[in-house]
Amino acid sequence: MRYLLLILFGLLMVHAFGQKFDLATTPPMGWNSWNKFACNINEELIRKTADAMISTGMKDAGYEYINIDDCWHGNRDSLGFIHPDPTRFPSGIKALADYVHSKGLKLGIYSDAGTQTCGGKPGSHGYEYQDAITYAGWGVDYLKYDWCNTNGINAENAYKTMRDALKSAGRPILFSICEWGDNAPWLWAGNIGHMWRTTGDITNCWNCEKGFGGWSSFGVLQILDKQKDLRKYAGPGHWNDPDMLEVGNGMTLIEDKAHFSLWCMLAAPLISGNDLRSMTNETLAILTNTEVIAIDQDPLGIQCLKFLDSGNLQVYAKPLQNNELAICFLNRGESSISLDFNWKDFPVRDAFSGKNFEFGNKEYKIRDLWLHKDVGSTGIPYKQIIQAHETILLRLSEK
Ligand code: GLA
Repeated sequence: MRYLLLILFGLLMVHAFGQKFDLATTPPMGWNSWNKFACNINEELIRKTADAMISTGMKDAGYEYINIDDCWHGNRDSLGFIHPDPTRFPSGIKALADYVHSKGLKLGIYSDAGTQTCGGKPGSHGYEYQDAITYAGWGVDYLKYDWCNTNGINAENAYKTMRDALKSAGRPILFSICEWGDNAPWLWAGNIGHMWRTTGDITNCWNCEKGFGGWSSFGVLQILDKQKDLRKYAGPGHWNDPDMLEVGNGMTLIEDKAHFSLWCMLAAPLISGNDLRSMTNETLAILTNTEVIAIDQDPLGIQCLKFLDSGNLQVYAKPLQNNELAICFLNRGESSISLDFNWKDFPVRDAFSGKNFEFGNKEYKIRDLWLHKDVGSTGIPYKQIIQAHETILLRLSEK
């Protein structure tokens, strides 16, 4: 009997600790306030963004989370409970969560493993369990957990503590690790978070690095290149996160399409970062291209491999369910490329997923996912002009 009780107790402990919630079987999709609004946020913006998520059709395209980033915080009270900024969020986070839920969407919030957030607001260090209970009580569905002001603490332990706190609070909350790749989270975060940032912050440029003294933010190409060798760590429930989208925040349309195509090839979380209340039709068309989104959301959850790298032309391949394959041609350069691609010379062999595509032996139909058109087969060479900074995104299926 004593042993039975011990076993039961052990099972209970395993259940309460050392686990994350079973969420994010495909890369999470949503919106986050930071890229466009930084600290300039309030409850009105969040409500109107939730409204826009519905009215624009983004929810129908799969976007689900409305995430409040840094600077929602007010102070801790005398018992240590965190409260939202009373001027920016006078109705409180619970009311906001109720509103967002009433639209069939989910609410995300932001905190930090250190003493303060990157924006200088109260961090969760030493308050992890209390904050997790607070978030769960408010009806929060997603936590982005940052890494500023952590003063030498161990990253794996810090993120484990918050994972355990969330688990014990009992409400399924998606846990987004934002540690910028500093301590190689892909090596240890698979059982801790549902996604982990692989790099420093993105910024709205194609090819740049902006330095801010101790840290830098990066353009699309810089972030893309930092994903090298990480594909084996991603899969359903645990994703590499190359940071949120900059679509609609100032790059050209060609660059925005390329950025979106590449993030879908990477099986990245698709967290839009623009102003949904006032975006152009072109921006909306990019964000809601369901054929492109389907590449990202493919149930196998295989991140792309780069199978050809020839100067400015790179070719990426992403195995999909039903023996289909996404192919993305990227022109990184400043002048157009005249592509003449003989499939038979470039079989895709992916040792990681065990999926092979022998174009010499088998013919595949080709669909262009930006043109929304079937464009022939792999039986003949594929010819196309690729503009500077452009991607061509194709879906191949067996004939
Ligand atoms: C860090 C994160 C960003 C954002 C800001 C908020 O830089 O990486 O994504 O959350 O903090 O201050």
